[in-house]
Amino acid sequence: MYIMFTFTELQILCAESIFLKYSLALLIFIIIKQVWSRQFACSGNEKSQIEKKVIDIGQSISIDSTNDGADDDDNDYNTNYVDDYKPHLPEREHIPYGGLTECLDRSGELFYKLTNDRRSIRKFNKNKPVDIGVIKKCILTAGTSPSGAHTEPWTFCVIQDAQIKRKIREIIETEEYLNYKQRMSRQWTADLRPLKTDFIKEYLTDAPFIICVFKQVYGIRSDATKQRHYYNEISVSIATGILLCALNAAGLNSLVTTPLNCGPAIKNLLNRPQNEKLLVLLPVGYSADDCLVPDLQRKPLDQIMITY
Ligand SMILES: Cc1cc2nc3c(=O)[nH]c(=O)nc-3n(C[C@H](O)[C@H](O)[C@H](O)COP(=O)(O)O)c2cc1C
Repeated sequence: MYIMFTFTELQILCAESIFLKYSLALLIFIIIKQVWSRQFACSGNEKSQIEKKVIDIGQSISIDSTNDGADDDDNDYNTNYVDDYKPHLPEREHIPYGGLTECLDRSGELFYKLTNDRRSIRKFNKNKPVDIGVIKKCILTAGTSPSGAHTEPWTFCVIQDAQIKRKIREIIETEEYLNYKQRMSRQWTADLRPLKTDFIKEYLTDAPFIICVFKQVYGIRSDATKQRHYYNEISVSIATGILLCALNAAGLNSLVTTPLNCGPAIKNLLNRPQNEKLLVLLPVGYSADDCLVPDLQRKPLDQIMITY
């Protein structure tokens, strides 16, 4: 009633004053425009943000599909792919997964104790033999690793032959001499000083086994075309971590070694194909009775974990 009255009053006033009439119309127009533009400016903004996200994702997808997760070093291998867009795995049914059948202990304590005992060993017992059956089992374990698109891009070369071990040692000691004397920065050699490492590598001939872990930068199909191996380095690194744990769990010691500039010569020596690249080399055996290790501390949980 009150509004009606006011409205009627306004009508009379507007009829009497043209100025008031047009001012009122302008005011109503401005209010409607404001409400309208707020409504649509908001959804337009959201839309443009989503569009921007989609464009960003689109860009990263296109980068990923050419990069394959391979590092720069691998670019020479990442050419001349013949994409036929058929999956490398045959299509297969999905089967029920019943959960894990084995468990060490539900608290995680046992596995922690086991891995916390692991140390990098640079002095092996050359008189204590290692059963190759155990090495095979550990490599089988490493082969359970997840891998990009299940490409399983790893090759584990197991060397027991004394002559090949000697050749590997020669290759590595020659390169490491240059690495320590010329190639590595002074900071790098300073960082290694507490570990007391140098270019002499007796452990390479003392250890009963050397495992050379190769990453397959790409696969080779039966028709000789190249198959992409997505994230091959990450996949092989995870597999190597599993291998280290498996060796450790079997009571064997090892040492991750990554000697600079030795990959091509070792690859050549072992006659590995062009698609493979040496990732790491592990001497494996039992530690010598007089083996020493640096007294290192590991970071506590609160320095390596952040909870959200
Ligand atoms: C990627 C990687 C590369 C390594 N390269 C070498 C190496 O070339 N020579 C060596 O004596 N130790 C090497 N190590 C061993 C480290 O020095 C060792 O893991 C580190 O000092 C910690 O000691 P721990 O393994 O006993 O816990 C390497 C370890 C990793 C993970």
